[in-house]
Amino acid sequence: MNTILTGDRPTGNLHLGHYVGSLRTRKTMQDDPNNNLFVMIADIQALTDNARTPEKVSSNVLEVALDYLAVGLDPQKSTLFIQSQIPELSELTMYYLNLVSVGRVRRNPTVKTEIEQKNFGEGVPTGFFIYPISQASDITAFKANLVPVGEDQKPMVEQAQEIVHSFNSTYQEVLINPKGVLPEKGMGRLPGIDGRGKMSKSLNNGIYLADSKETVDKKVMNMYTDPNHIHVQDPGNVEGNMVFTYLDVFAKDKNYVQELKEQYQQGGLGDVKIKRYLIEVLDEVLTPMRTRREKFAQDPQYVMDLLKEGSLAAEQIAAQTLDEVKTAMGINYFR
Ligand code: TRP
Repeated sequence: MNTILTGDRPTGNLHLGHYVGSLRTRKTMQDDPNNNLFVMIADIQALTDNARTPEKVSSNVLEVALDYLAVGLDPQKSTLFIQSQIPELSELTMYYLNLVSVGRVRRNPTVKTEIEQKNFGEGVPTGFFIYPISQASDITAFKANLVPVGEDQKPMVEQAQEIVHSFNSTYQEVLINPKGVLPEKGMGRLPGIDGRGKMSKSLNNGIYLADSKETVDKKVMNMYTDPNHIHVQDPGNVEGNMVFTYLDVFAKDKNYVQELKEQYQQGGLGDVKIKRYLIEVLDEVLTPMRTRREKFAQDPQYVMDLLKEGSLAAEQIAAQTLDEVKTAMGINYFR
C-alpha cells in the first residue's frame, strides 16, 4: 500500500506542462487500488510570495480544483483538500523549523534560484524562505511514502527526508521517509509554444486545460516551428520545432509522426498541415477534460463541498500524526 501526497500552488490554471509532468501520473496512481492518493491545493505556500494579493491565491482555488476534476481526479478515490484548512500542518512546521539550520535552507537550490529570479535579496519573506520546511510538514503529516513532483522539487523531498531522519533520531520513530517520484525521462519539462523554455504562466507560452478549442487552435497555429522553413518545399528542422516536440509527447500514432518528420526534413510538408494534425491530437486529449470541467463548473458549490469533505478527512490524519509527534517530543501535556 502506498500513501501518495502531492499538490500545486493555486496561482493560476494548470496547463499541458502540468498535465504531462504530473497530472496524468496522478490519475494513473489514483486508479490503482494499492494507492491512497492525497492531492493538496497549496494555498499557504502560494501565499508565501503573494501575501499582499491574497485574492490571486483564493480566486484560483476553485480553478485548480476544476482542473483536477477535469483530468479525472475523483473525490471518491482520492482526497482533494486545501492546505490552509489543515492547521496541524502549520503546527508541525513550527516544530520542524528547529531541526533545520538557516544555512541549510539557504543552500536549497530551488529556493536560491527563486529568490534570485524574484529579486528578493534580503527582502525575501520569511515564509517564502522556509517553504521547504512547510512542504516537509505536508508530506510527513500524511506519512506519505511517495511524492510525485517535478525535477525542481527534488530539493524539497530531500529536505523532507532530512527532517524525517532528524526527527526520528532525535525523538522517536514517528515519521515515514518519503521518496520522490520524478516524471519519466523527457516528460519533465514540456516547452512552451514559443519554444523558449518550459511552459509557464510568467512566460505566457502555455496551453491551458481550461482553454477553449478556438484558443488552442489559435495557439497551435502560432506555434514556433522552424524559422528557416519558409516555403513548403524547403527542408525543415524537426528538432526544436514545437509542433514535432508536442506530437512526440501527445500523438498516439508514433509511426505516422515518424513519417511526417521524414517528409518535413526532406521538404514538401507545410507547417499548416502538421499544425492541423497537432490540433486534432490535442483535441482528443483536451475534449474529455473540457466536458468534465464544464459539468463541474456549473456547480461550484458541489466542488467547494467536496474540497471541504476532503479537508476534514485530511485533517483527521494530520491531527493523528501531530499527536504522535507531540508525544514523541514529550510535550503532549494533557493526555
Ligand atoms: N511546491 C509544490 C509546487 O510548487 C507544491 C507543493 C506544496 C507540494 N506542498 C507539496 C508538492 C507537497 C508535493 C508535496 O508545485
